[in-house]
Amino acid sequence: MTMTGRAPILAVVSACTLAFAACAPHAAAPSTAAYDTATLPAGPLGGEIRYGRAIIMHTRNTVPADVRANMDCAACHVNGGTVAHGGSFLGLYSAFPQWNKRAHRVITLQDRIAECFLYSMNGKPPPYTSREMVAVVAYIAWLSRGTPAMRPMPASQRFNVALPSRTPNRVHGAVLYAARCAMCHGAQGAGGRVFPPLWGGRSFNNGAGMARIGLMTGFVYYNMPKNAPHTLSVQEAYDIAGFVLSHERPAFRRHAIVAFPPLQAGYF
Ligand code: HEC
Ligand code: HEC
Repeated sequence: MTMTGRAPILAVVSACTLAFAACAPHAAAPSTAAYDTATLPAGPLGGEIRYGRAIIMHTRNTVPADVRANMDCAACHVNGGTVAHGGSFLGLYSAFPQWNKRAHRVITLQDRIAECFLYSMNGKPPPYTSREMVAVVAYIAWLSRGTPAMRPMPASQRFNVALPSRTPNRVHGAVLYAARCAMCHGAQGAGGRVFPPLWGGRSFNNGAGMARIGLMTGFVYYNMPKNAPHTLSVQEAYDIAGFVLSHERPAFRRHAIVAFPPLQAGYF
């Protein structure tokens, strides 16, 4: 009896530990305050940090030529990368330079930003010395102020989850998708101006992190549905991700030449 009586409380406690924002709204406050315009440096540097945030929030408007997907960086880096478990940029500047498995070399923050332009945005990176790239770097550096150098991103900021060992149940995922996701992302996953597409020609390409079942499961588990986050189990998020990723999306153009550096995109 005692055990049965306690079980729900324990379940609530562990859900809070995993997804603290749902249980303690105040816990999210410090991260949103990370972009506090009142404390931006005066002068041009502060202006460029603002511009960097504008690029993350409104990528399609600010750098239209560099983006083919119908989304902004903030589609996956929630609130401009200021939310733990939501594609956080907090402290990220300090994690570079870092070893990158895909590139098989030590990369800079610019290289990592370029990757998301190539895969997630299905576009091309702005030149590394362009005003745009430098502004995005400045914005991420600002969000990382006070973090000691050469500190890898803590796992507690990421949206990794332990995946079920079974394969995703796409049929179950389709039912959940219709009930919990289609109202914003559309029955055909195409999204629109406000809600980002989950599949189809205007979504992220097949080289993107979000195209991996583990990362999409974790993102959905922590952040979706947007109107009721933290209401899906990992199993449910996994089945939905399996369903979403069973659809067509653009293929990464491995041999496309990116503007700068003048290398084949496959270098990444
Ligand atoms: C479709 C979703 C999506 C979009 C859009 C997107 N990203 Fe990402 N981004 C990801 C995922 C997934 C990761 C990997 C997160 C992880 O490994 O924990 C990532 C990682 C990153 C990282 C490295 C973060 C880290 O923790 O190591 C940077 C920097 C980044 N993205 C910048 C951008 C920029 C700049 C844009 C817009 C030009 C952008 N992203 C657009 C999904 C996206
Ligand atoms: C109330 C509207 C709404 C609902 C319902 C919703 N989303 Fe989202 N979704 C958004 C918005 C808005 C974003 C952009 C990021 C943000 O603002 O948090 C987003 C971003 C995403 C992304 C990353 C961007 C991309 O296009 O890949 C994924 C993946 C995603 N949602 C999956 C889902 C899944 C799966 C469900 C159902 C479980 C769901 N969403 C339900 C509004 C919604």
